[in-house]
Amino acid sequence: MAKAKTAYVCTECGDSSSKWQGQCGECGAWNTMSEFVIEPASAAKGGGASPAARQGTWAGRPEAAGVVALKNVSQDAEVRVSTTIGELDRVLGGGLVEGSVVLVGGDPGIGKSTLLLQALALMSARMPALYVTGEESLAQVAGRAQRLGLPLDNLHALAETCVEKILGQAASAKPSPKLLVADSIQTLWSELLTAAPGSVSQVRESAARLVRFAKETGTSVFLVGHVTKEGGIAGPRVLEHMVDAVLYFEGESGSRFRVLRAFKNRFGAVNELGVFAMGDKGLREVPNPSAIFLSGSSTPQPGSAVMVTREGTRPLMVEVQALVDKSPLANPRRVALGLEQNRLAMLLAVLHRHGGVGVYDQDVFVNVVGGIRVQETAADLPVLLAVLSSLRDKPLAEKTVAFGEVGLSGEIRPVPNGEERLKEAATHGFKRAIVPKANAPKKGAFKDMEVIAVERLSEALAAAAEG
Ligand code: TYD
Ligand code: MG
Repeated sequence: MAKAKTAYVCTECGDSSSKWQGQCGECGAWNTMSEFVIEPASAAKGGGASPAARQGTWAGRPEAAGVVALKNVSQDAEVRVSTTIGELDRVLGGGLVEGSVVLVGGDPGIGKSTLLLQALALMSARMPALYVTGEESLAQVAGRAQRLGLPLDNLHALAETCVEKILGQAASAKPSPKLLVADSIQTLWSELLTAAPGSVSQVRESAARLVRFAKETGTSVFLVGHVTKEGGIAGPRVLEHMVDAVLYFEGESGSRFRVLRAFKNRFGAVNELGVFAMGDKGLREVPNPSAIFLSGSSTPQPGSAVMVTREGTRPLMVEVQALVDKSPLANPRRVALGLEQNRLAMLLAVLHRHGGVGVYDQDVFVNVVGGIRVQETAADLPVLLAVLSSLRDKPLAEKTVAFGEVGLSGEIRPVPNGEERLKEAATHGFKRAIVPKANAPKKGAFKDMEVIAVERLSEALAAAAEG
């Protein structure tokens, strides 16, 4: 047997080099290069080990080799199966694609294991399923499944962390699993490497093994991943490139609501949201989530603005809250929760320059209610309305909703799907909408809602002050 090839991989950034270095040439970290077996020589002969195969894009499909005209490629449409959890299906882009690898990341205790156990148990009625646990004992998994009242007849479990053994067990299992959950990827390790479990090289190799297994056997694989303090999946960035979809499970501590978000999806839209509530019977779907992200206060409060966001393919009503308070600091604080910090700083500058309202001596805190993260620019206008409302200590008019992007020259720019957002607001009984001019519907389109179309920030601020 030929000697296995080795490389040195930085445990910080995942960069690799053929020889050892004291400092990583890519990220500059010291003493982070650790030895890493690329592939044993025997595996290299066995097919499916080309660089592309290792990436998992078209591994195990012999017809993919060689140059072909794209129009001659037969398109076997991807086979999707429903997970029987509607919100999970939605985030996956309409069901789980056969042979796909989905990475589910989230904070400890957020409910990743619960979600996947529920999905697996429900799907195991239709296809053989295997739950591999590296963190909890089999008794713990079984106990939880029983407490949740899940169907267990066809669900198989394995407590194992060695990826070679896992794949061996999966290959020899009868019937062979069509669905596999590995909880979590950070606990897995490969015999080929000497590095400790949880290290970058182990995580990367274990994931690569599972990706290859998924592509070769058509088994759908869910990987559970822990997130770092910064919110990324612990381990190298390359993990996100290797898998077909990356979902993040998020939620505010203390809140029972959980949001599953597609961050990457080769088979569907990204930023799609699925909403769940954690209860004593596990996770329950929230098919109509708009209501839960409104604070529920019956009278309008200063510093609060309601917006319609459209993360993914459905509109969602969310409340943005701001607190503006005189700052004792030379550099007043700007804190954004659920929104981008830099964007807040930019918006405050536009508010000063084009709205004539300065908050340079004030601390500004902005929060999106319900622990949800809003990434689209439609939040710009509601953020500024909330800030102004808090600064003036004057609530916006009752049942007012707003959305729109704010440009650097003080213009209010349109956002996609304006009409759909307005419809959602009307459904929830909103009476006034402050929206970009280009998003305004035809006159009389909304009978019970006054739509105020604005082109400039100053117009929007004036409209908000009226109400
Ligand atoms: P878990 O799925 O173990 O989280 P993760 O795998 O992401 O670390 O979820 C654990 C949390 O969920 C724990 O704090 C208790 C809570 N929980 C419930 O509230 N109800 C339930 O029915 C279950 C199973 C868990
Ligand atoms: Mg867990």
